[in-house]
Amino acid sequence: MSDEQRLDGKVAIVTGGASGIGAATVRLFAEKGAYVVIADIQDELGNQVATSVGTDKVTYRHCDVRDEKQVEEIVAFTVHKYGGLDIMFSNAGVAGGSQSSIIDLDLKDFDNTLAVNLRGYVVCIKHAARVMVARKTRGSIICTASVLGSVAITATGGFDDKGYISSKSGILGLVRATCGDLGEYGIRVNSISPYVVATPLATKALNLDVSQVEELGVAAANLKGIVLKPIHIAQAALFLASDQSAYVSGHDFVVDGGFLAVNQTFKFIQQSSKA
Ligand SMILES: NC(=O)c1ccc[n+]([C@@H]2O[C@H](COP(=O)([O-])OP(=O)(O)OC[C@H]3O[C@@H](n4cnc5c(N)ncnc54)[C@H](O)[C@@H]3O)[C@@H](O)[C@H]2O)c1
Repeated sequence: MSDEQRLDGKVAIVTGGASGIGAATVRLFAEKGAYVVIADIQDELGNQVATSVGTDKVTYRHCDVRDEKQVEEIVAFTVHKYGGLDIMFSNAGVAGGSQSSIIDLDLKDFDNTLAVNLRGYVVCIKHAARVMVARKTRGSIICTASVLGSVAITATGGFDDKGYISSKSGILGLVRATCGDLGEYGIRVNSISPYVVATPLATKALNLDVSQVEELGVAAANLKGIVLKPIHIAQAALFLASDQSAYVSGHDFVVDGGFLAVNQTFKFIQQSSKA
């Protein structure tokens, strides 16, 4: 086995590949030799990413993950165009809208977040697994969860989003359940849980610009001297997509610099009592 993580000749779908973490992953997968289909609803951005990498390697296709038919169709398109499907990176996501207290929660916003961030993941895993099983492909399915799937943050201003937290926590359960279904076919299912990355999703949900989101992330981070960028998450996706993680399944790959491992509440209480 080569030391380098390569995806030569592998075929991947990246949902939410028009922007942020998904776009960084599309570029990295293609650089490592994969053919990639971007599934997104931002047509202009998605086409720009495909064109900038090279349309011989990357194809953009409109796909709203809330619609099962569109997901089924893009999987069929990918198999037809590239001869199979090895990697499904279910990554599309929305945030914001259900930050109010449970007492005042508008369930329309909650339902929409769940439709994209959880039901959309169910549908992507289902249709990827169907073709992988039918074609006897030992595939890799990767889902983007979040540190908020493992811990709720009660600060106001964007993090306290009931739909988002519920959906990301749901993804962790979904990964465990589907890894159980698909193990007998040699298909691996894992998740990645990023800490704060200053993508459009985060800037919009927190109502801050990119540098403000990064400053906030650095201030609350455990690991200092580094700013978390989309490429760091893409590198985790590459590991889970490649044969270097051949025996890894049912795992949540946390990319958070130790954020979830350390409760810093006492440190902040001490700091504020000194101030
Ligand atoms: N940015 C962060 O701080 C952070 C932290 C943890 C987890 N995540 C997760 O990372 C994933 C990628 O988000 P990002 O931060 O790169 O944000 P982003 O806004 O840059 O990308 C999200 C993409 O999902 C697409 N999308 C939204 N609804 C869709 C739908 N119905 N069908 C298809 N595509 C749809 C958007 O068009 C967009 O291109 C999300 O699942 C998000 O929850 C982000």
